[in-house]
Amino acid sequence: MIIAIDGPSGTGKSTVAKEVARRLGFTFFDTGAMYRSFAWFIVQKKCDPANEVEVVKSLSDFHYRIQNHPLGERRYFVGEQEVTQAIREAPISHVASQVAIYPQVRKSMVKIQREFGKSADAVFEGRDMGSVVFPNAELKIFLTARLEIRGERRFQELLKKFPDLAESLDMEQVQKEIAKRDETDQNRAVSPLKQASDAILIDTSDLTVSQVVSKILHLSSEITNCYPRKRFLYGFIYWLVRGYFKVFFRLKIHGLHHYRRGSGIIAANHNSNLDPNVVSISCPEEVHFLAKESLFSIPLLGKLIRNLNSHPVFRGAGDTQTFKTILQLLQQGYKVILFPEGKRSFDGNLQPIERGLSFLVQKSKATIFPVYVQGTFEAWPRLKKFPKPFGKIILAFGSPIEWEEFEGLEKKEAEKEITEKMGRAWAALKKWVEDGAQGTTP
Ligand code: C5P
Repeated sequence: MIIAIDGPSGTGKSTVAKEVARRLGFTFFDTGAMYRSFAWFIVQKKCDPANEVEVVKSLSDFHYRIQNHPLGERRYFVGEQEVTQAIREAPISHVASQVAIYPQVRKSMVKIQREFGKSADAVFEGRDMGSVVFPNAELKIFLTARLEIRGERRFQELLKKFPDLAESLDMEQVQKEIAKRDETDQNRAVSPLKQASDAILIDTSDLTVSQVVSKILHLSSEITNCYPRKRFLYGFIYWLVRGYFKVFFRLKIHGLHHYRRGSGIIAANHNSNLDPNVVSISCPEEVHFLAKESLFSIPLLGKLIRNLNSHPVFRGAGDTQTFKTILQLLQQGYKVILFPEGKRSFDGNLQPIERGLSFLVQKSKATIFPVYVQGTFEAWPRLKKFPKPFGKIILAFGSPIEWEEFEGLEKKEAEKEITEKMGRAWAALKKWVEDGAQGTTP
């Protein structure tokens, strides 16, 4: 799936697109960085940006590379030279806009962008993503904002990136430059900046980044909630285990409309050793979970569970390594199943939530997908050696808890709020299940 996000500078495109990609587990492409890198290259070569013939000639020596770090940072290279920081300087913005008018330059950039788009679910951010590069993108967004707001945002961004320039930066000047770039971008003959006819317009002037991101996530889940194909082994075991629970435990799954693909914490109550299996086969996409380290050293089993997305918990090393693993998985756009109560229940009742959940949410900004499981305690209580052969299991997904709800709260306060909200979500789901599991889950 491709999400195309276009719009003039200062609308928050990059920040929004990056966050949308992270939340969906998609790859993010900032196509402006590509034009900027080419501009940097032109400047380095002391080539006159106004000389179209010379600029176009340089294209054949332009070797562009993106290095994606697993934690989401992106580094840009021209040849062997890293340009990540250098391309953000104001003079480069101007040259980028100048060279972006040349048809041959656009043609080569578009070719590279389409090549990137072939291999992945991605969010592409730029000026002509929806109108020219990906006319068939599943979701097209066009962001706008009032000029003075865009100027202010770009000014703050520059201040943050280049604090040394604080003295010389002038807000009015920044605004003028943006207006000038707008004009060049909107009036060039090839691929001018304009809203594709089927793009959805969002004015970000009076919205926070989180609000814009939420809107786009909502739109994306409305358009498609199809999930990436599971790998053969995962898919095979998934259907086998799912069939077992459906036949022997009459497993019923509710509230899947609350489920969204991509990064997030599946937070389930913990009654029994059956829970990790029941929860994972209730999720429509591949999910990740943690398992005791000792299991990984058992020949064959260790290899199998690793292949099924289990990750070892190193008890001796404390929680640090475990938290690191979870944070990395979340950053990479995966879902991780967690049992925030920390241990299995002795009586089938809900237990207090440990601090780990709020720590992870605050660190990763992950969405929590609350899950309530009923029936696994009766099927395999904690003190029994083997599960019962038959039973009835119900699993309910509740409304996602978004980290934005806790944004800006002081650490302790956020911890309290997250824990309480999680507890309330489980309590509501429990009541809903006990009242007969009718209608939609809370
Ligand atoms: O988005 P950013 O400000 O980094 O883009 C720099 C310049 O690159 C823009 O002003 C625009 O002229 C050009 N550009 C473009 N088409 C894109 C992305 C950027 O023409 N898809």
